[in-house]
Amino acid sequence: MTSSYPTHPDAMRPEPRGDAITGDRYYSKEFAAREWEHMWKRIWHVGGRVAQLEEPGDFIVHDFMHESVLIVKQEDGGIRAFFNVCMHRGNRLVSVDEGGMDSFTCPYHNWKWGLDGSLQEVQDPEDFPQGNPCGKLKLKELPCDTWGGFIFWSFDDNVKPLLEYLSPIPELMANRDLENYTRVVWKTLRVNTNWKFASDNFNEAYHIPAVHPQFEPMIDDHYSTTLFEMYPTGHNRMIEKLQPSSRYPDKDSVKPLWADVLSAWDLNPDDFEGRAQEGRIALQQARRKLGPERGYKYFEKYLDDELTDQMHHTCFPNLTLTATPEGLHMFRTEPDAEDPNWSTFDYWYMVPAVEGRDEVETLYGTRPIEETEHSTDSYEEYEANLDQGDFLTQDLSLAVTQQQGLRSMAFQDCYLSDQEARVRRFHEVLNDYLEGRR
Ligand code: FES
Ligand SMILES: [Fe+2]
Repeated sequence: MTSSYPTHPDAMRPEPRGDAITGDRYYSKEFAAREWEHMWKRIWHVGGRVAQLEEPGDFIVHDFMHESVLIVKQEDGGIRAFFNVCMHRGNRLVSVDEGGMDSFTCPYHNWKWGLDGSLQEVQDPEDFPQGNPCGKLKLKELPCDTWGGFIFWSFDDNVKPLLEYLSPIPELMANRDLENYTRVVWKTLRVNTNWKFASDNFNEAYHIPAVHPQFEPMIDDHYSTTLFEMYPTGHNRMIEKLQPSSRYPDKDSVKPLWADVLSAWDLNPDDFEGRAQEGRIALQQARRKLGPERGYKYFEKYLDDELTDQMHHTCFPNLTLTATPEGLHMFRTEPDAEDPNWSTFDYWYMVPAVEGRDEVETLYGTRPIEETEHSTDSYEEYEANLDQGDFLTQDLSLAVTQQQGLRSMAFQDCYLSDQEARVRRFHEVLNDYLEGRR
């Protein structure tokens, strides 16, 4: 396809080896244990947003499977991560999700740990025949770094530098001022499915006609117009154009939703009847011209394609960053500590500042542009509480039924279309970790 996309020199289309994607990968405890041992212990994890930590002593607790990580803002403004474990006799040190403290005092025997992980005070320091532990013991520290306003940490002391690990995703998103985005939606759902559901699902758009029919008038899901890229680091990208789907014979007619998108930027929908897809370029030009005066200063840094299209970055293994002209959707899934049939799904929506605006449209209605509170739910309650389906409800309901089917002895491997090549690629990168090739 012809495109002005900033195709990265590393973009490639590797021939898949053809590793089978078997059902046991989704439900077997033995397989989940191998993921833990060979993959989760070695990658970078997203632990939060930098904006959560304003003052020295502010902290986030990120539980991952049976481990717990304490992320702490330092006196010097830096951010460090420690295992949330007291080094006296192993008690979990902090039992809340986040907060602010001058130091961390273990509730078991009152050992007091500093923000930098040093041991500051113990009871009866003279009673230790091997010497006072203060000045000797420290909380066990983990690598921690930030990119794009996200805090990352890793269990692996020898993990690659973060930017090298994420490459080329930071370069591909360089025109977006992600550090200064505001998180306006922050949801965590417990879902009855394996964590890999989301990696598979966000690695293809083949499910859109069946699962998200509402996108037809304005998102072009057809493979003939979609850009697919894979990178040596195991991350992928897919770009869908903002235009009526090329899949349908009436793609040239303007449907109500598309008419609204055009009208919002002073374009007359009637002008595009019979050539509806041309509205995309017109929209780029209109946003280029009118954006700054409407407060969208950040449009000045965007390429034309970034003014319209949906850019899905699937970062191995469990992080999806979907960038649109309006904001950034983050999806993160994490495995359940005990049961591979369950996982935790996080959806965050972050937006840039728009001059003169203090509200923004989200999946959950209009919200103020300010850092939001965390909400957690089970998927069943979440679904029951919604009046109408949003795209997450649609995806997650499939997650539950696919997990059921994958447990059948009838299922031995996927039968994939070319546009789903990134699904197999994801599993092959995972196998590279499990089998010692990465
Ligand atoms: S286990 Fe923490 S002070 Fe004893
Ligand atoms: Fe979907």
